[in-house]
Amino acid sequence: MTVAEIVEKRGNSRENLIQILHDIQDESGDNSLHRDKLEELSRIMKIELADITGTASFYTMFSLKPRGRRIVRLCDSPPCYIMGSENILDALQEKLGVKVGETTPDKEFTLEFTSCLGVCGVAPAMMIGDEVYGNLSRQKVFEIIDALKAAQ
Ligand code: FES
Repeated sequence: MTVAEIVEKRGNSRENLIQILHDIQDESGDNSLHRDKLEELSRIMKIELADITGTASFYTMFSLKPRGRRIVRLCDSPPCYIMGSENILDALQEKLGVKVGETTPDKEFTLEFTSCLGVCGVAPAMMIGDEVYGNLSRQKVFEIIDALKAAQ
């Protein structure tokens, strides 16, 4: 879908900007917002490019640099931290072979932190794509990543 088609579908209104940016990022193929697309969006919506990039930079769900097909977001808010999110971070870094902010060489996974996912009752928790995983253990992390790799 082109930028023009996305704007047409969502409605050319400032209040739809976040959703439009989501759609553009989903279409990017590398989970990021490309500068040429944002320039096109700026022309179509008549919103300053700096305004659009400012909005995109403010929200952690958007990225201006290429990321993996799947974003692994580990919660690092206090309830998850108390329940051992540091051990989960170690397991993720070991299993994926990347540090936070990095993408696996096959461009499949990018590891990021997130604030509370709203499922503190099952801390420690993480989100991969739209799926939330709770009650994490080192073993569970390995199984989840293995299952996702097998499903590629
Ligand atoms: S603090 Fe991690 S889900 Fe709420």
